[in-house]
Amino acid sequence: MTKRVAILISGGGSNMVALAQSMRGDHPARPVLVMSNDPQAGGLAKARSLHIPTLAIDHKPYGKDRSGFEAALHKALQTARPDIICLAGFMRILTAEFMAKWEGRMLNIHPSLLPKYKGLHTHARALEAGDTEHGCTVHEVTAALDDGPILGQARMSMQADDTPQTLAARLLPLEHALYPAVLRRFAAGDRTPVTLQG
Ligand code: GAR
Repeated sequence: MTKRVAILISGGGSNMVALAQSMRGDHPARPVLVMSNDPQAGGLAKARSLHIPTLAIDHKPYGKDRSGFEAALHKALQTARPDIICLAGFMRILTAEFMAKWEGRMLNIHPSLLPKYKGLHTHARALEAGDTEHGCTVHEVTAALDDGPILGQARMSMQADDTPQTLAARLLPLEHALYPAVLRRFAAGDRTPVTLQG
């Protein structure tokens, strides 16, 4: 049966577009919802132009009430009934309680070769460390931040004159190749890690 996919974003949504455009033809999944915690997220208009239902649940009115925000998120997801949730540049940290409700069904893309550089500023940290290789990871979401079983990685070599901006720009097309490749396998029940070289 076709899998239902919800995609959670906070920004431009380029990974969301790559995922949505991949779910065509004989793909085992289809997008059913794009949701953002930021009503201004550029990705919402892109999702609408792809004819995917969208929803914004602004986290700001909830202030420190994280569980209130997550309850609204959970309710919207229950209505959309996704089999798979893809976090795609979703920049809110989710609690263990929330993640437990969707365990085994939630994926995330992170702009580093995990387990290196969990959290923010991954490109700058790779440069500071003097790394010669950088990349991105798609992993299953578990209670620990940017942890959980790795389902795919794309690698690229770093150049002497790289900056965080050049790294981000070269990495993004790799993200757009990796995430759809992992989603296709995952939706078909295959968790064999995908490996790409940029
Ligand atoms: C992507 O580079 C993604 O890897 C990163 O945010 C960007 C979103 O871009 N995610 C994280 O940093 C998660 N911690 P997009 O909105 O164009 O897909």
